[in-house]
Amino acid sequence: MPGTCVIGLQWGDEAKGKLVDLLTAEHDIVVRYLGGANAGHTVVVGGETYKLHLIPSGILNPNVRNVITAGVVLNPPTILQEIDALSARGIAVGKNLMISDRAHVVLPWHIAEDRLMNDSPVSGGTEQIGTTLRGIGPCYKDKVGRTFAIRLGDLYRPGFRDQVARIAAAKVRWIASAGGNARGIDAERIHAEYRGYADRLEPHVGDTTAFLLDAAESDRRILYEGAQGALLDVDHGTFPFVTSSNSSGVGVAAGAGVPGRWIHRTIGVVKAYSTRVGGGPFPTEQDNATGQRIREVGREYGTTTGRPRRCGWLDAVAVRYTARLSGVDSLAVMMVDVLGGLPELKICVAYELDGKRISRFPSHVDDLRRVEPVYETLPGWQSDIAGARRYDELPDGADAYLRRVSELVGRPIAFVSVGPDRAQTILAPADGR
Ligand code: GDP
Ligand code: IMO
Ligand code: MG
Repeated sequence: MPGTCVIGLQWGDEAKGKLVDLLTAEHDIVVRYLGGANAGHTVVVGGETYKLHLIPSGILNPNVRNVITAGVVLNPPTILQEIDALSARGIAVGKNLMISDRAHVVLPWHIAEDRLMNDSPVSGGTEQIGTTLRGIGPCYKDKVGRTFAIRLGDLYRPGFRDQVARIAAAKVRWIASAGGNARGIDAERIHAEYRGYADRLEPHVGDTTAFLLDAAESDRRILYEGAQGALLDVDHGTFPFVTSSNSSGVGVAAGAGVPGRWIHRTIGVVKAYSTRVGGGPFPTEQDNATGQRIREVGREYGTTTGRPRRCGWLDAVAVRYTARLSGVDSLAVMMVDVLGGLPELKICVAYELDGKRISRFPSHVDDLRRVEPVYETLPGWQSDIAGARRYDELPDGADAYLRRVSELVGRPIAFVSVGPDRAQTILAPADGR
């Protein structure tokens, strides 16, 4: 039952989409199992750039079945736009895409609630989460709350109209009483609109849990595509500055509906530095010329929202924690080219908290906010490595940096990425670098 899983080990945008596209060639099925249109995964092939939000990054390979499972919160108009945009570029989306009838549906009130809640600071502090405003948190909240939830399969049932009427009435009351804007929430219009979406999506909708269990038992090769990053995990990340699902490796089985022991390989995707979008503590942030340089060279602007990403040095304390949490076997170190030309590079190897050196990742954000990173400094390299295709073509500085990352995180490096294109990837030698 061969299953490979790709998990981001930082705060998202580690270039998971690129790696998933690359690994798709050796798989039969690619699975998106969590999150929603908050994700933005970029795939670049032969100079063509594709930005995917809900559709798995396996879609560019015509031989692969792409599956969106029960753990995803699905925004019907967004996925239809994605399907149309891909079709317009010659990428057929038909039988190669299957969507779970158990997936929860993001509705207009979720977007209104996200706006409303995002205006408030969290947990007694002054900072906002800074969500992507895609309705993700409110939709997951309704899923767990159950009373106001709508799943994709409900759209095809005779009770759908009454379900929308009942929930819309409650949502209008709640949003208006909280001072939000509920003017766009009209039950009849939403019912008609979503019935239209349902008709278009119908050929794709099915029981993906049964499909994946059958596929795994017949030894089909399954690739699980993580979204967000492990530090955004709702239970184990930098709560409350997280997303609303288990985005570390611990979430794969629940989101996809397969036993965790059927996943035999987990690849942790790590950016060679750190970025974060939205609020929350970020110990190695470089709010200075270095951070600005990384942002410009790495084009660190959000794929989904266009927001500038906060940039900083690699935090090996955090990545060691998330690699262990996610059961990572090997690492893919991405965007290594972006560090070229910097005179020296820093890696955070420990924290100082209350005068004590610690190597544990703190469980409370207030402590994470107070830590001082302890840095190790390595020499940079000055050559452009974007054209390197073999590990031994990398300069000594890049080799030394990668070896140290592997040592600190405690996992071998399997892939090194030196540019956005599928071709700009190096398979690291089997000796563990
Ligand atoms: P994801 O959400 O983890 O899939 O990552 P995003 O797509 O949001 O962000 C990664 C960005 O980096 C995209 O614009 C990619 O095209 C780009 N990218 C991927 N790998 C590399 C690399 O090795 N070097 C550079 N310079 N850019 C890369
Ligand atoms: P990919 O899959 C980076 C962040 C948001 C915000 C927090 C909560 O492209 O790596 P949400 O809208 O989920 O309620 O926002 O999580 N966030 C991401 N940051 N990459 C992502 O996805 C993200 N998805 C959510 O910026 O801080
Ligand atoms: Mg992204």
